[in-house]
Amino acid sequence: MSDNSDKPEQLTFANIWDDYIESTGFHAVNKIDFGRKHPLARTVFWIVLWLASASYLIYIVTTELSSYYRYPTITTVSLKYADKLQFPAITVCNLATKNRSMFGDDNRTEHYYLRITPMPAAATPINWSDPFYSTEGFFNERTIEDFYNESKQLSQFIEFHEFDLKSNYLNYSPVATDLGLCVRFNGDIPVTTAMYGGLYNLHVYIDLLLDNDYYPESYVSSGLKVK
Ligand SMILES: *[C@@H]1O[C@H](CO)[C@@H](O)[C@H](O)[C@H]1NC(C)=O
Ligand SMILES: *[C@@H]1O[C@H](CO)[C@@H](O)[C@H](O)[C@H]1NC(C)=O
Ligand SMILES: *[C@@H]1O[C@H](CO)[C@@H](O)[C@H](O)[C@H]1NC(C)=O
Ligand SMILES: *[C@@H]1O[C@H](CO)[C@@H](O)[C@H](O)[C@H]1NC(C)=O
Repeated sequence: MSDNSDKPEQLTFANIWDDYIESTGFHAVNKIDFGRKHPLARTVFWIVLWLASASYLIYIVTTELSSYYRYPTITTVSLKYADKLQFPAITVCNLATKNRSMFGDDNRTEHYYLRITPMPAAATPINWSDPFYSTEGFFNERTIEDFYNESKQLSQFIEFHEFDLKSNYLNYSPVATDLGLCVRFNGDIPVTTAMYGGLYNLHVYIDLLLDNDYYPESYVSSGLKVK
């Protein structure tokens, strides 16, 4: 503030502060005049109020920032009772899927299949120059029909099946897998069921058709795999 004298104002801290509090819009600070225009108690009151507000602001900001950088997560758990549940797809594989009757008795075929089992060391090396392999169609392109043709028929493998006590209720379809021809129940449009326990859901009566196992002695095992 200028006092209208010609003498240039002295740049003391008191003058600078007076100028500052006249022009600032900083609430509370503009009331701190150190008792020069108003009672000193007023300055003390506003200093205390200002410090309290500033401390509270700093406290809020640091709390919020530290909370933000802790990346808190919120987990909500709720309990829901389902009247019905979707039944999963079930795939059943016979471990020996090939039908012995579809192969000739020649031991060269036998050795070929022995070499592609998990025990290839038990078989003699294959002589691919032998004309036997081309006449037997080993070099022909194999189709999915050939694959089904030389596998045990699924209609004989699955003797009977029921779902929730209803016979032949679920659809099943053949699936080609690494293990050979398998069968998948409930794969297309999944059914839902409200029943549980040993009596209900999927029951399958299976015939492994062991008499038709192709080279059962060379496979690691006979049996089935369910997924
Ligand atoms: C295949 O069988 C023939 C006789 O039927 C036999 O002479 C030959 O040694 C056998 N070969 C192999 C690799 O076992
Ligand atoms: C493989 O088969 C060809 C044709 O039959 C025969 O000439 C050749 O000696 C055989 N090789 C071996 C190692 O047996
Ligand atoms: C299945 O295999 C047999 C014997 O090789 C053959 O006679 C028959 O035509 C085949 N069927 C199909 C559908 O490929
Ligand atoms: C194996 O193949 C024979 C000849 O095609 C057929 O009669 C028999 O039903 C087949 N067995 C199985 C288990 O598919």
